[in-house]
Amino acid sequence: MKQNIRDVYNFNAGPSALPLAVLEKAQQELVDFRGTGMSIMELSHRSPAYEEVHNQAIARLKSLYSIPENYEVLFLQGGASLQFSMIPMNFLQPEKKAGYVMTGVWSEKAFAEAKLFGEPYHVASTKESNYHIIPRMDELQYYERDAYLHLTSNNTIYGTQWKDFPDTGDVPLIADMSSDIMSKPIDVSKFAMIYAGAQKNLGPSGVTVVIIRKDILEKANPNIPTMLKYSTHAKSNSLYHTPPTFGIYMLGEVLSWIEESGGLAAIAKQNEEKAKLIYDAIDNSNGFYLGHADSESRSLMNITFRLADEELEKKFLMEAKSAGFVGLNGHRSVGGCRASTYNAVPLEACKALSEFMKQFQKKNG
Ligand SMILES: Cc1ncc(COP(=O)(O)O)c(C=O)c1O
Repeated sequence: MKQNIRDVYNFNAGPSALPLAVLEKAQQELVDFRGTGMSIMELSHRSPAYEEVHNQAIARLKSLYSIPENYEVLFLQGGASLQFSMIPMNFLQPEKKAGYVMTGVWSEKAFAEAKLFGEPYHVASTKESNYHIIPRMDELQYYERDAYLHLTSNNTIYGTQWKDFPDTGDVPLIADMSSDIMSKPIDVSKFAMIYAGAQKNLGPSGVTVVIIRKDILEKANPNIPTMLKYSTHAKSNSLYHTPPTFGIYMLGEVLSWIEESGGLAAIAKQNEEKAKLIYDAIDNSNGFYLGHADSESRSLMNITFRLADEELEKKFLMEAKSAGFVGLNGHRSVGGCRASTYNAVPLEACKALSEFMKQFQKKNG
């Protein structure tokens, strides 16, 4: 039975499912936000009512991730893709090197931007095996004097995810967590910077979350445009210019929903349970479904698989669509199938998909 009053199981890769309770609350508050007589979208970003929303969203992020005092939380625009440029622009001087761990298309895009500013190099790459695996810690070869080391914690397209993160000592570790932010507890103190577009686990598109250690702000290149300096936004509590107020409001509500769901430990447990349902359908299919990711590197957020041939895959996707499953096509660059099981995707949707996969195999195996 669908938990959702809306008649679909949403497995979109991003923008993706949002908690129904959050959408309903936003609907309720949309026209008259908490007695102001205005919508949240009509409030000044300098008004006390909006500032409360803004600061509460920051406070919830800090509390859920136990972010230490020496970090800033920023709300930026331009998506995770602008971070690919802002990171080297701020931190990679022309004569300096930065290590990039290559685990997919998003790492490649980040690397390409860094080449415009300094000398990035590949710390490790699993491209030869079509990015089906995360490199081992002992395969990461980097230099102690690097400007930073960059990795992609979850590879949305290939369906692989880091289970642990390296201890990089004095080399600032920077992670693109766009597709697994807030999906489990992490030790923020291992990272100099974490960034993520909000549109998978945190809210609608239009907001980018940056968690950044204060000491690296001081080391950034001062000779870059004002809007592209992290310090500009850090100094003004992300209110240097008009922030995406509605997106930040929604993000705050999604974080509140995570709190009410029992926090990150409970969310992580449910994410494991959800992914297991679908991985089990793959693993017990005798090769009818073929998972893309190596089992040690499997993502709990994006589950990628293929069927024996393209005809069967087309049939699977068509029948799935008719049965109410949305977003199961693999990314256009790799094809196949992908189920994105982000935080807000209910357990029931994953149970239904796992059942559908078993039934489809019975009829077509
Ligand atoms: C891991 C990862 N990084 C970066 C991006 C790009 O994000 P945006 O569209 O916010 O620029 C995506 C988008 O899917 C992604 O999955």
